[in-house]
Amino acid sequence: MNNELFGIPNMDVYLIMGVLIFFGLIEVISGYLQRTQRKSDDWIQEFGGFIVLSLGIKPLIVGSVYFLGTQFFAETQGIMSTMSFWITLPTYLLIDDLMQYWYHRSAHENPFLWKLHRAHHQAEEMGFFVSYRNAGLYYLLMPNIWWVGLFTFLGGGLAVAAGLVMKQLVIIGSHSTVTWDSFFYKNKILTPIISVLERIIITPAFHHAHHGKSKLDGVSDPNGNFGNMFSIWDQLFGTAVFNRQLPEEYGLPNDPKEHWTASYFYPLVKAKDSQNEMSAGHQKVSTVHAEPTTIRLEKGKKYLYCQCGMSKTQPFCDGSHHGTKIKPFLFEAKRTGNVKLCNCKLTKGAPFCDDSHVDFKV
Ligand code: FES
Repeated sequence: MNNELFGIPNMDVYLIMGVLIFFGLIEVISGYLQRTQRKSDDWIQEFGGFIVLSLGIKPLIVGSVYFLGTQFFAETQGIMSTMSFWITLPTYLLIDDLMQYWYHRSAHENPFLWKLHRAHHQAEEMGFFVSYRNAGLYYLLMPNIWWVGLFTFLGGGLAVAAGLVMKQLVIIGSHSTVTWDSFFYKNKILTPIISVLERIIITPAFHHAHHGKSKLDGVSDPNGNFGNMFSIWDQLFGTAVFNRQLPEEYGLPNDPKEHWTASYFYPLVKAKDSQNEMSAGHQKVSTVHAEPTTIRLEKGKKYLYCQCGMSKTQPFCDGSHHGTKIKPFLFEAKRTGNVKLCNCKLTKGAPFCDDSHVDFKV
């Protein structure tokens, strides 16, 4: 199981720690600790999540794969060990990243997985440790960690070691407040380089947009940019947004924060507040109704129209669609004046009422 990068035992672990320390130090030097509004719950979730993942969950999963492999598939152990590193590395990384794209996307579209991933999006500030805030069960179910065990068992340990270091560099870089890509975007002469890079790997601007609070700022898209290391999957599956800017605000809209124990140990521990979607028996309820809302819109202003039918602020989105496949509809008012916005969600001309509510049944 020893993945000797450059012939040095555990070199991958040293390099991964080095990446964390590197980004952490730059954040500290650039005054992050003075600016941060983080609460103790945030630090506990992120630092604690990192420790439990590194020292508990990952060794447990990799150990389980080895145990099962040696018990039932012993003849397959090490069968890839004679394959070229230049074949195993891209094989490991591409399959890993494709799985993570779909796992991450599912965590935004499936109600149960969303609750395991929700803590990740509650962070109101980015930072190099943000990538470690998820429920413990989210990591236990993460196919990538099982893939690490399987690929290593099959003899691709060197590719796994190198791949994990590369992934760490991109992932920590894309969550960090050290937005290295802004240097490229600001310098016209460097723009062609970042234009190519952003089409291949996840840049800070690309991933920060995924953490933005609302599409209303014209930068964020919490329902897009699901990629982990490569942006190719988002481009391939139609979820990529390249705005090259940073969101105005991070986090979730209307977030009744729960205690960190509920965030981390869900579903074993649940939120006490019955309004919180992490509480026991909480159900999102339909708020659609037949009556359209007459409202004055201002020309040029953007609005986010609810399409999931669960917003408490109909006809506008309040973030209740998280954990479903339905997204809000962003539109810009073409003129100033009163309009009728649809609340029955049957209109064929969203967001405007087209009198389809005559067919509305409760
Ligand atoms: S609350 Fe956002 S689409 Fe309904």
